[in-house]
Amino acid sequence: MEAFGSASGGRGLSIASAGDNALLMLARDPDEVLAVDINPAQLACLEIRVAALQTLERDEVLGLIGSRAMPPRARTECYRRCRPLLGESARRFWDAHPRFITRGIGGCGKFEGYFHLFRKMILPLAHNRHRVEALLTPRTPQERAMFFEHQWNTTRWRMIFHLFFSRFVMGCLGRSPQFFEHVEGPVASRILKRVSHALIVLDPSQNPWLHWILTGSHTRLRGETVLPPWLEEGAYRRIVANLGRLKWRRSSVEEVLSEEKCGFDHFNLSDIFEYMSPARAEWLLEKICERSSPGARLVYWNMLAPRSRPERLANRLVPVTDLTRMLHEKDRGFFYSRLVIEDRI
Ligand SMILES: C[S@@+](CC[C@H](N)C(=O)[O-])C[C@H]1O[C@@H](n2cnc3c(N)ncnc32)[C@H](O)[C@@H]1O
Repeated sequence: MEAFGSASGGRGLSIASAGDNALLMLARDPDEVLAVDINPAQLACLEIRVAALQTLERDEVLGLIGSRAMPPRARTECYRRCRPLLGESARRFWDAHPRFITRGIGGCGKFEGYFHLFRKMILPLAHNRHRVEALLTPRTPQERAMFFEHQWNTTRWRMIFHLFFSRFVMGCLGRSPQFFEHVEGPVASRILKRVSHALIVLDPSQNPWLHWILTGSHTRLRGETVLPPWLEEGAYRRIVANLGRLKWRRSSVEEVLSEEKCGFDHFNLSDIFEYMSPARAEWLLEKICERSSPGARLVYWNMLAPRSRPERLANRLVPVTDLTRMLHEKDRGFFYSRLVIEDRI
């Protein structure tokens, strides 16, 4: 969001994924956001969020997602009220997975299941509940460094992390093995470096993603919530007001760029280049240059495979270096190894 700046208007193209970031783009007051994804399950996740925003109170949305506690039956009731607003495919998806509803729809992804396993079975081998709570307690940067050094960064923590987040285990349980097709070098040590950054330099007590991974919700001990930006009150209200400007469809970015006549000003591309060869990524970046307005901004992440504008496109895309460095440093989505912001000239 900060990469796109505060000016309103313009047309955005976003990877739908489960919807969080595509929805957040509406908080900027754009003219339109088109959310696309090749995976229908991701679009079903976006659609149920849209229906929930239209139908439920904010507290109920937080409960349905799993950000805060809600009895399973109340979640089912929320779904019953949202259901008429869903399209055929999304309705079939959610009807077929009642447990995704009762457990909270934010936890139904494959990667979320992997984190669930980590939280329940693996993490307790290194740290008990008390220490996890201590990690999520507000502290000064110096106190965080001390806590990490003396209490968190144990041999056992590093060992379980290297095992559980290895290419092999993650490839079997967390992500599809083909996601690693273009990844070179060790995986766990790179992620561990970013996790250490998130635990020392950034403030764990203010990190909704860390809360989700370690506690399974966005709720702290005393019941306060630590929410991802799209669920924070101000953004939430603006998103609800702008829902009519969101369109979505099942499609690849490549297909959209081949079909769409009109250009885009903002591209939220998640980490899609990760799953492509360098040649394919270069081809797609070129296509984006053809289909975007001058001044358009591209924002995307690299997780494990380095991808950014190739030298050949230097006269059409420029990296926005200082802003990128600043935003990457404070990016609470710490799983990504690199943020890329590039402007079309
Ligand atoms: C790892 S997830 C993103 C996770 C992160 N929560 C986010 O929203 O940025 C990447 C998403 O991109 C989608 N995707 C990958 N390649 C794509 C492409 N070429 N066109 C459209 N969607 C794509 C996947 O289906 C998935 O939903």
